[in-house]
Amino acid sequence: MSLFETHILSQKEYFESKWFEILRIRSISAIEEYKPEILRAADWFRNYFCEIGLQSELIETAGYPLVYAETPEVLDAPVVLVYGHYDVQPPDPLELWKSPPFEPTMRDGNIYARGATDDKGQFLTHVFAVESLLKSGEKLPFQIKFIVEGEEESGGKGIECFLHSNEGKKKLACDCVVVSDTSMFGPGQPTITYGLRGIIAFELALTGPNRDLHSGTFGGSVFNPAMALAKILSQFIDEKGVVQIPGFYDNVIPLTLRERTQFAELDFDDNSFFEKIGLSQGFGETGFSTNERRWVRPTFDINGLTSGYQGNGSKTIIPSKASAKFTCRLVPDQEPNVIADAVRKFISLQIPLGITWELVVQHGASGMRLDLDNSKFVMPMSQALEKTFSRPPVFIREGGSIPIVAEFHRILDAEVLLVGWGQDDDALHSPNEKFSLASFHAGILASARFFAKLTQ
Ligand code: BES
Ligand code: ZN
Repeated sequence: MSLFETHILSQKEYFESKWFEILRIRSISAIEEYKPEILRAADWFRNYFCEIGLQSELIETAGYPLVYAETPEVLDAPVVLVYGHYDVQPPDPLELWKSPPFEPTMRDGNIYARGATDDKGQFLTHVFAVESLLKSGEKLPFQIKFIVEGEEESGGKGIECFLHSNEGKKKLACDCVVVSDTSMFGPGQPTITYGLRGIIAFELALTGPNRDLHSGTFGGSVFNPAMALAKILSQFIDEKGVVQIPGFYDNVIPLTLRERTQFAELDFDDNSFFEKIGLSQGFGETGFSTNERRWVRPTFDINGLTSGYQGNGSKTIIPSKASAKFTCRLVPDQEPNVIADAVRKFISLQIPLGITWELVVQHGASGMRLDLDNSKFVMPMSQALEKTFSRPPVFIREGGSIPIVAEFHRILDAEVLLVGWGQDDDALHSPNEKFSLASFHAGILASARFFAKLTQ
């Protein structure tokens, strides 16, 4: 066993204690009042990078700061950039957490905390890997850069603006971007993800009367905005799960037979997949398998609905307002802006007389599909994964979005490697988010082995 492997195996408690430090910071990017915590998380990363001997700095943006760090430059050698995010989703509903979201707690081999897997734990595996290589005296004959952002979960544009600037292009220039913010296909099954969906997010607000009305006095004589909203939203997909926005599928690339076969050959059981989330069965576009529906087909989903009285008991009103937050997951070649225009038009044709409306497009990002056939980095990564998990990786696409990743690929002309250590049941964005300790430690080892391979 090499020195760095021995080092990693001897430092488990230390890595966990450092990870817990950052998990205790409530870096929720969606809620403005958490800004001090966001800044504390950015500082934590900067200080940690410095502590392990890297050059590190905070990069200010119009939103929350980026944290950048690098090992020394090496001429004529590859440069690897590791990307992650230090922000997390809001933890609510709080009452459903079995232990407090910002107090990392160990139960049955997992650490429960908001951000445990998405993405503090996953990102840190690479930091600890580099730290271990350096501490065990490995000379890195190539350069590693880290970039961590604080707006991934809230659609912020800070990192994108930086990436498009001359300074950003220079600083982030690299041959390969490594990202661990995805999942493994199953426990102990190493996975390389070669595609992600894009996204476009909206908020629609409808206004009827200028105040809530008595539904006895006014009911039957005015259009109820909650009813208008329900009618409009119900038009977006049909009973076969097909999105009804005209033009929505125009640029959707049909699935190749190769890909369909590859997905069908994966060891996947629909029944147990749905059972784990408390459903007797799934729902989606007719003619597509569950994995096709969640990885490579575009969607329309309501994320939040608000109108009228939500308290105990009943209140007989016609609400003045009704609003909904919704998103479409997009696949490669569907342009977020084009879809936004199509959605606006679709809604405009359905607004009842007497109702006013406002549609805000919140954020968008393109989907991507990586071509790994000619990749220089897939082989060393696959070898590192196989050595660590005693199985070769499977190659999948996933349905989530990591907005900046497609831009890295495009602007930096770099390869992208998405290697996640998470699981489908890690409860990302839900109460009781967790990350398996075994995956965390295996991730550190696999990452270090990948970096060590690049040196050979
Ligand atoms: N880690 C996720 C992305 C992800 C989730 C990839 C599941 C693959 C499988 C990431 O942090 C995330 O949640 N992104 C947001 C982006 C959005 C707010 C723009 C998402 O996908 O909802
Ligand atoms: Zn997330």
